[in-house]
Order: sequence, then structure tokens, then C-alpha cells
Amino acid sequence: MSRIAFVNGQYKNFNNSMVHIEDRGFQFGDGVYEVFAVINNSIVDYDGHINRLFLSLSKLNIKPPISKKSLLFHIINIKNENLIEDGLIYLQITRGVSSRDFKFPLSTKSSIVIIGKIISDNHYNSSFKKGIKVCTTKDLRWKRVDIKSLNLLPPVLAKQSAYERGCEESWLVDEDGFITEGCSSNAWILIKDTLITRPVSNSILNGITRSSLIKGLKKNDLKIKERKFNFKDIKNASEAYITSATQHVMPVIKIDNLEIGNGKPGEYASVFKDAYMESILLLKS
Ligand code: PDD
Repeated sequence: MSRIAFVNGQYKNFNNSMVHIEDRGFQFGDGVYEVFAVINNSIVDYDGHINRLFLSLSKLNIKPPISKKSLLFHIINIKNENLIEDGLIYLQITRGVSSRDFKFPLSTKSSIVIIGKIISDNHYNSSFKKGIKVCTTKDLRWKRVDIKSLNLLPPVLAKQSAYERGCEESWLVDEDGFITEGCSSNAWILIKDTLITRPVSNSILNGITRSSLIKGLKKNDLKIKERKFNFKDIKNASEAYITSATQHVMPVIKIDNLEIGNGKPGEYASVFKDAYMESILLLKS
């Protein structure tokens, strides 16, 4: 089977899919993106992701290239054409193609790319059983990371440095020593029986997985507190987690040199994962 991509209105063979060299996404990172999880042939929390995409577009004054209805049609086609039962859909929209100029072009049509990837659920399950290691590093990103923009150089460098230090994710630390979030995930710690995560602001991405987990925790009468936390708090934590569309709810077993709990996923790992799975909305198609 050959992979199929959706590029500016056309379905293309993945290996022959091209964008223009003067696409503003390529030259300026002038665009936004979304990552949708696919579980059991269903798209997870579709409305949450699509609403955030439109919010990111409006914050950057980029016109959507197609309607929400057409987007859904093409996203489902990419899932089905690529036979994705479990995996992800990546969608990116840029301000479009125009001669290089920092100012916005006047009448350029925005560009859109949708691709899909199969990721077997074994991949997630084996990481979930072991847990992941996290390193901390300075948060060098711009001040509007609530917008899911293509400007990803600081998290790219932080993730690479984490990888070189034997970690799977990096937690970013603000100027006051508080964790903002992961490079591509939201960050959580458990102190006693309360799960703690940073409140939503311009300093973090309002994760769709984060929202679903919070919904699931509340439904199950599990305690959640949205507050900033720093390394002193981490030292008091018995468990830690990251959440994202690709990692769902993932236990963290080490942060820098500090083992969390006994260095294995804690007793709440399955509780939190189940609470999340219970509260997600699945779009079957
Ligand atoms: N990243 N914070 C950041 C900085 C992120 O990039 C992401 C997601 C999240 C979690 O958001 P959500 O739960 O909606 O996936 C938080 C995606 C997966 C990525 O860039 O690949």
C-alpha cells in the first residue's frame, strides 16, 4: 500500500507530495498545525482539535483555506486511504505562497497539508508500562505558545538535547523556575492524592488531552489542582505524567537525576489513563 497525502486540494502519492519553495510556512514558520490521535479507527476529540486549529488561525489572521465540513471530509479520507486504525493525523495550514516579504501578502490563499501515520498501540503500551524519562531545560520559546504555530525551533533543540541525555521528553522551565510544559506535551505531578498541572495561559498550549483528562478526573472524583509547580514541588511528588495526542497519558519515572516514586509507573497510572479514555469523544467514520 502506498501512503497518500492531501496537499492543497489534491490527493498525492506521499513520496511525490511537494509544497512550493516560497510557502511562508517554509520561509517563516508562518502557519499552524494540529495532531489528531486515531484510536480503534476513530479520531479522538475531533471537535476540540478543530476548534483549537481555528482559534490558532484567527489569532494569526490566517484565513482557513477550506470549510470545517471539507476539512473533516479530507481528514477522514486520509485516515481511511492510509488504513490508519491506530496512529495520528497531522494537519498544517500556512499563510500560503508569495514572494518573500515579512509583511502579510494581500491576496494569497493559505496552503494546507494533511498526512497520516500508523502507530501500533503496542508502541504506546510498552512505553506506558516502562514510563519515560524527562530532562528539564530553560523555556526559550516565544510568549504566545497558546497558538499552535509552526515556530518550533526551541522545542526541537530541547527535545534533541533531552534525547542526547537519554530522556524522551524535556520539561521547559520559565524565568521564575516553574515548569511551563513539555516540548510537545503538558506536564503533571501528583502530590499526595492531587494531580497538579499549570493553569492555562499564553505560556502553555491548552492541550486537548489535558482537557479530557481533567474532565475524566472530575467525573471520577479524583483531585485536580491547576497551579504552577517548580522543582521543589517535584521533589514532593510521588508520580508524574505527560499528556498529548500522541502520548495520551504517559507516566514519568525520572526527572533529571531524580527518580519519581520508585522509578516505575505508580499506582495511579492506570487510574488516570482509564479516566482519560473514559472521557474522550471518538469520531467513528
Ligand atoms: N504536541 N504542549 C505542547 C507544546 C504541545 O506541542 C502539545 C502537543 C501539547 C499537548 O496538546 P494535545 O493534548 O492537544 O496534543 C502540549 C503535538 C502532539 C505535537 O506537536 O506533535
